[in-house]
This record gives sequence, C-alpha cells and structure tokens, in this order.
Amino acid sequence: MKKIRTIGVLTSGGDAPGMNAAIRAVVRAGVYNDMRVMGIRRGYNGLISGDMDDMTLRSVSDIIHRGGTVLQTVRSPEFETAEGLRKAMEISKVFGLDAVVAIGGDGTYRGARDICRLGLPMMVLPGTIDNDIGSTEFTIGYDTALNTVQDAIDKIRDTAYSLERCSVVQVMGRDAGYIAINVGIAGGAEVVLVPERRHDLMKDVIKPLLEARNRGKKHYIVVVAEGAGKAMEIADEIEKRTGIETRATILGHLQRGGSPTARDRVLASIMGMRAVELLRDGSINRAVCVQQGKIVDIDLCEAVDMKKSIEDNLFEISRILAQ
Ligand code: F6P
Repeated sequence: MKKIRTIGVLTSGGDAPGMNAAIRAVVRAGVYNDMRVMGIRRGYNGLISGDMDDMTLRSVSDIIHRGGTVLQTVRSPEFETAEGLRKAMEISKVFGLDAVVAIGGDGTYRGARDICRLGLPMMVLPGTIDNDIGSTEFTIGYDTALNTVQDAIDKIRDTAYSLERCSVVQVMGRDAGYIAINVGIAGGAEVVLVPERRHDLMKDVIKPLLEARNRGKKHYIVVVAEGAGKAMEIADEIEKRTGIETRATILGHLQRGGSPTARDRVLASIMGMRAVELLRDGSINRAVCVQQGKIVDIDLCEAVDMKKSIEDNLFEISRILAQ
C-alpha cells in the first residue's frame, strides 16, 4: 500500500467539547511523524468543495481548552449522495490527500464508511455529547456534557428545594438516554425518562412522585431525555395530577458548549495520536474506540453496524437511591 504522507482532518455533525483537543493531537502527531496535515473546514462539505488548508504546529496552539471546533462543522446531506461522494473523491485527489481523519458521531461514521468504499482511506474518532456510538464505551464530549448538565441540575435543585417544587429538566441525547440516566443518578433525580424505555405517565412518573411525597420528600427532580418526551408537557401533567407546583427547564445547546473536562481532553489526545500512528503504520479504515476501558481500533464498517445499550442496573440504582 502507498505510504501515507498527507492527511486531512475534519469535524462533522454536532460539535462536541474536546473536538479541538482531537484536532490538535492529529496535527501535532502528524507533524511529528513527518506528515503533511490539512485542516478541512465545515465537515464533509469542505471535502466536497475543497475548503482546506495546511495546518502547522502553531495553528493548533491555544485550542485544547476551547469548546466547539475550530474547523467548524456541518451535517452534510450532499455527502449522502453518490454525486457528493464522487466530488469528494475528486477533490481528495486534487489536494493529494492520502487519508482523512473524521471526528464526529454516527452520521460521520456512515459518511466515512461510504467514502472509504470508493477508495479514500479513512480513520474515525467518536465525537458527540450523546455517547451513542455502538463501538465505543465513551465518546469525546460526553463527559463534559455530563458535567455541564450536572451543574445545571444542582442549580435547579437549589431553587426547587427553596420553593418545595418539582423541576422537570429536559436534556439532550437525540435517541439515546446516556446523559439522562447518568445525570439522573449523579443528581439524585426521583424520575428519569429515556427513549430506550417506554414509559407510562401514571405508573412511571406520577406514582413515584406521590410515593416520594408520602415518604416525606418536599422537592423533586425529573430528568427527561429529549427523545423520551417534552419537559413542558410532562410538567403540566405532574402539576395537574399531583398538585405539586412544577416547573420545566429545557437545557438546550448550553449542553454542547464549554471548555472540555480533563477526561475529554485526555481521551481526545490519546485517540487523535492513535489515529495518526495507525495511518503511519499502514492501517486504514479503522475506528478508534474505548472497549473495556482500553483504547483500541476496529474495522470501520463493523463499527458503523455496532449497537450498544444502557446497562439495566443503572435504572435500578437510580430508583433505589432516589428514595
Ligand atoms: O448529536 C448531538 C446533539 O446535540 C443531540 O443531542 C441533539 O438532539 C442534536 O445534536 C441537536 O442538533 P442541532 O444542534 O442541529 O439542533
């Protein structure tokens, strides 16, 4: 196989804290290994339009602590078409790209799989706050989002306590409940609703709240993953059916911003470095992931098809400890 000398790096899909740390690692590890590194702007759209430039050691100075992504990002419908992929292949040849490191979520993985099948060597790193990538136990950005949401719930708890209210907090996660169940445990929520488990309003929300009241509780936190319901509607129902004064908070995009935690920076740095070393050693079309606590790499196509689920015992832990 041809030696990899020029690599591109891009971020795609929703931004996630730690993406900058991953870009920095790819650039610096690339330069260290005598590669030319090109920063591709605005995700796969940049690969289609040739929106890319050389990156140097200094172009990634002072970004490790910044949220978002300096390369910017998009979700690219064009890259899902045969024509978009064809244009991207042409551009990658024109710019002399031997491989591309793509950092993002499941859409990014599918895009990488599709273009690697046309012959552009790819490497993917998991970057999403949702933690919903089947091949990896942890994604870059998830830990920061957990901590951001946790901080918000702690603040909401202060006011819920003072006014003896119930607060319903809607958190991100798209179709996944990893953020919800984990902040539910960390924040002592009485009720956690996730998309992976269907819920019945009376049995799974109203009854546990009334039971908590009967055990002497005077304020309550309900965490609802965005894929499991709407905080406003649930809050209305709770107030109507229990008489407990209830407020709703939708945390929204503040969950995606902010300086990455140390854990996310380290994960991104190790993964970025690993991606470059794999390419240097001739491995292509791999997904870098965390499995059983270790950083490993697996076949990209296999990674795209992998599923994971929330461990059942987390729901039991959450329920028992919220008593
Ligand atoms: O995938 C990350 C994520 O923040 C999801 O949790 C959320 O559903 C979605 O992106 C929101 O996307 P947008 O920023 O396009 O509204």
